[in-house]
Amino acid sequence: MSYVLVTGASSGIGKVFAEEYASRGRNLILVARSGEKLKSAEKELKAKHGIDVITYPCDLSKPQSAAEVHGFCSRNRFDVDTLVNNAGFNQSGPFNRLSIETHEQMITLHITTLVKLTHLFLPEMLRRNHGEIINLSSITAFQGVPYSAIYAATKAFVLVFSESLREEVRKSGVKVTALCPGLTETGIFDGAGVDPHKTRLPVGRPLPVVRAAINAVSRNQAIIVPGFINKILIHTGRLLPRWLMLRVGLILSRNEESMEKALGK
Ligand SMILES: NC(=O)c1ccc[n+]([C@@H]2O[C@H](COP(=O)([O-])OP(=O)(O)OC[C@H]3O[C@@H](n4cnc5c(N)ncnc54)[C@H](OP(=O)(O)O)[C@@H]3O)[C@@H](O)[C@H]2O)c1
Repeated sequence: MSYVLVTGASSGIGKVFAEEYASRGRNLILVARSGEKLKSAEKELKAKHGIDVITYPCDLSKPQSAAEVHGFCSRNRFDVDTLVNNAGFNQSGPFNRLSIETHEQMITLHITTLVKLTHLFLPEMLRRNHGEIINLSSITAFQGVPYSAIYAATKAFVLVFSESLREEVRKSGVKVTALCPGLTETGIFDGAGVDPHKTRLPVGRPLPVVRAAINAVSRNQAIIVPGFINKILIHTGRLLPRWLMLRVGLILSRNEESMEKALGK
């Protein structure tokens, strides 16, 4: 039986991906650390949509986690034909004040595990000449972001990796899309050192983001930036010098109160 595998499916954008795919009759494999939240989503989505839902609680910031997820799917003969690499977190603050363990966790989760999952599931998609991969990047991928240096850099990696891979597999039936949302109302900001409503940027809802991504991957669109203002920001950014965009990014996105606290002011 074929499945959509969503990482980070216990909340936010990932949970909405699960709900949206379920409403389209797709079977699901849901991965995140919070086993109880996954179980309650499983119960709800099975009852509402009559689909098969498998849950696999797992910490994807552990280096061996991607192999464990893939091994579980292989042993049970679950064919993953849509992979949504969504799991992620944000921790803002001065680079040298955040712990190196936090930086390592973010790099492993956003980059290493995403690459490994793609590397493990792609051959099966290529064999079937059919598959879809949605990788969660961000509008922060298009420029450096002071106080979110590692976050922005990992998302830039995801964007360039997805674009490059997409071109490599262009002649197969496998589609790869990088989803680059702007600020979206989810739990990612809880304890992250950022209040999205204190920034001067628009804050969107997860459902339009998810719908735009699912439509984009089915059209085989390389990059999707949901929201008119986010698109304008990206295009304007391409025209301005990079140093200027860094200053603008700092003024627009910095939650000054929390940064000053972190700097001990
Ligand atoms: N919200 C935004 O403004 C925004 C903007 C651009 C891009 N994004 C990206 O969108 C993706 C989803 O974020 P979100 O906004 O939906 O945040 P969220 O509501 O905090 O959800 C994050 C999801 O990732 C999972 N996760 C976090 N660490 C994990 C780990 N170590 N192992 C396994 N799963 C883990 C969480 O589940 P558990 O805690 O249960 O593990 C949760 O299901 C992220 O990649 C984020 O960078 C978000």
